Amino acid sequence: MRTTLASIRGLWFGMATLVATVASAGAASAQERTPLKPVERFSSISDTAERSRALFAEAAKVIQSPRCLNCHPNGDRPSQGADMHLHVPLVMRGTDNKGGGALRCTTCHQVTNYPQAGIPGHAMWQVAPLSMAWQTKTSGEICAQIKDKRVNGGKSLAQLHEHMAHDPLVGWAWNPGPRRTPALGTQEEFGKLIEAWIATGAECPML
Ligand code: HEC
Ligand code: HEC
Repeated sequence: MRTTLASIRGLWFGMATLVATVASAGAASAQERTPLKPVERFSSISDTAERSRALFAEAAKVIQSPRCLNCHPNGDRPSQGADMHLHVPLVMRGTDNKGGGALRCTTCHQVTNYPQAGIPGHAMWQVAPLSMAWQTKTSGEICAQIKDKRVNGGKSLAQLHEHMAHDPLVGWAWNPGPRRTPALGTQEEFGKLIEAWIATGAECPML
């Protein structure tokens, strides 16, 4: 009887939470709706390589978000917005990835977000080199690529973790200014997933 009562109570609690979630969904930010799964959630996967792949797949929810992909294009132009349309106005990466001709990135992008004009900003604002293009690639392809020292800027796995977990330009993705959905979770949570992925052998998803 006690069990039944407890489960009924659990059911009611669950329904109340659901109602509350639905009611606040309009106001809630994306990260509250679908949080990044914490590392502990993967401990039930006993096969280490499989766990590693699952950890990367979770981290890829950040990596393949528009906030990261817009700056890791597979061409000469960055993209914008949730739909990742080509950057308007037309800007090119140029020889140093900071803008071709007179249209330097910093002509418009300031050292911080400029909400009045809806322009994102950061002191290090520039497009990722073409060798680090992620757009149109699968999570497995991106995984193999970011481990490859020939194209990742010579980074060891430890440096890759450091970059993902602490680089301030990466961190912009969680502070993109108004009317832009931040990447899932927090940079700290993301860093922990990457750390655990490396600790389990940095295996890449098949897809
Ligand atoms: C003439 C002004 C101008 C120049 C030059 C410019 N941008 Fe932008 N950029 C903007 C504006 C305005 C937005 C915001 C558009 C929006 O969100 O609708 C933007 C948005 C972006 C975004 C989208 C961020 C996101 O996730 O939504 C990226 C990425 C970006 N710019 C990269 C660059 C890079 C890299 C350069 C240099 C190669 C550059 N921009 C040069 C005006 C400019
Ligand atoms: C404003 C543009 C911009 C945004 C936004 C951005 N990046 Fe980058 N990213 C760069 C640039 C530029 C480099 C090259 C930096 C270097 O070589 O030191 C880079 C390099 C990297 C690298 C090095 C390895 C490789 O092969 O790509 C990683 C990892 C990375 N970014 C992760 C991310 C993640 C994760 C996000 C989103 C959470 C993100 N970046 C968002 C511009 C950006």
